[in-house]
Amino acid sequence: MNWAEIEKLDSWVEVNPYDVPLDKFNMSRPELYEANVHEAWFERLRKEDPVHFCAESKVGSFWSITRFEDIKTVDTNHKIFSSDGAIAIGLINDDFNPPNFIAMDQPKHDVQRKVVTPTASPSNLSKLESVIRDKAALILDGLPIGETFDWVDKVSIEMTTYMLAILFDFPMEDRRKLTHWSDVTTAVEAVGNFTITAEEREQELMECLAYFQKLWHERSGNTEGFDFVTMLANHPDTKDMIDDPMTFLGTLMLLIVGGNDTTRNSMSGGVLALNEFPEQYDLLRKNFDLIPNMVSEIIRWQTPLPHMRRTALENFELNGKLIKKGDQVIMWYTSGNRDATSIDNPNEFIIDRPKARQHLSFGFGIHRCMGNRVAELQLKIMWEEIMKRFSSVEVVGEVKRLPSNFVLGITEMPVRLHAL
Ligand code: HEM
Repeated sequence: MNWAEIEKLDSWVEVNPYDVPLDKFNMSRPELYEANVHEAWFERLRKEDPVHFCAESKVGSFWSITRFEDIKTVDTNHKIFSSDGAIAIGLINDDFNPPNFIAMDQPKHDVQRKVVTPTASPSNLSKLESVIRDKAALILDGLPIGETFDWVDKVSIEMTTYMLAILFDFPMEDRRKLTHWSDVTTAVEAVGNFTITAEEREQELMECLAYFQKLWHERSGNTEGFDFVTMLANHPDTKDMIDDPMTFLGTLMLLIVGGNDTTRNSMSGGVLALNEFPEQYDLLRKNFDLIPNMVSEIIRWQTPLPHMRRTALENFELNGKLIKKGDQVIMWYTSGNRDATSIDNPNEFIIDRPKARQHLSFGFGIHRCMGNRVAELQLKIMWEEIMKRFSSVEVVGEVKRLPSNFVLGITEMPVRLHAL
């Protein structure tokens, strides 16, 4: 196909990336992620134009940073690459985008992050381990053996939503509201997956705010709990946040999405990876001690958040290209995690990979994922409990994915369980 033909196409799913002139590359296209073909495009960029400028797209102009080390340079250089206002591609001021600390720079960022960090700390989590394990056991024991069912709905969503409800001390019977608000938060036009109107989205999120305002008032003045809401409502640095409803809502949206989509998709992605690499599944069956290392490899392999965006505050030269003040800079973690100059055999899923934790999926620097230990613990427990029960979780049908450049999401994955 030549460029004139490609230019007329609505979808680039069938397009060979080597048929597209480099200056026409546009990695914001959601269909590339839905069809899981994005890596071939990134492979070419990493080789031929690792710091790439897309001059024109629906989400404006933007730089694509595709190599591991360059991504680290941007992510750790927060004085030049700002998170202020937006951390996803193309978000603009017109979007309903309440402020939160992932989209703030220092010093405000540090103050707010510090308040909620203890909830997700290893010492707090160790107290939760038995609760998580009991829930994992309950979910897995309720699954049918030998029948086809959707792993995403019955396991990944159920488990992560439950965990999130614990972290918020959220009423268990309403926990699927958290899943819903998470989906609504990420449903914006720029990143794809745009199933509701902007007005509907805003309205749904205002309902989320109202629900949490009630919880805040119940918990304000009561410091016994160790959940996110109690921490925010009683800490001197955030106790007045209730008077700034948009910042409260923004913070909720961050904590809900942070803990939900990401871990959910790692739970599904791990099952899929073991099916695609059956010799690794055999290795796991022989040695359950590999589970913690495998969890890191799953998180690299899936890269649940394929990108984070920054805005350049000053001109900056990166790998021979001049990024100009005001430019949108996209760190493609999904590409950096497949960069053979930093990771050996990056296209192989290797559960005993040395230094498996050295991946980009949690980011680097001051915004490094606050919930990384929560996610790892949940996945570790999940896999320990799966391996005690089933010889195989077999993927038996078509896997469906999210049309989004911001969440590498698996929306449906039919599986069949085999007993030990
Ligand atoms: C496999 C699961 C997860 C992945 C891949 C993931 C990924 C990320 C990434 C890429 C960032 C931004 C890093 C940067 O800009 O340098 C981030 C930030 C964050 N994550 Fe996660 N996350 C996961 C799980 C969680 C969980 C379970 C929670 C909460 C319970 C959480 C809460 C947050 C928060 C609050 C931030 C903002 C940190 C800040 O700005 O200082 N994440 N995460």
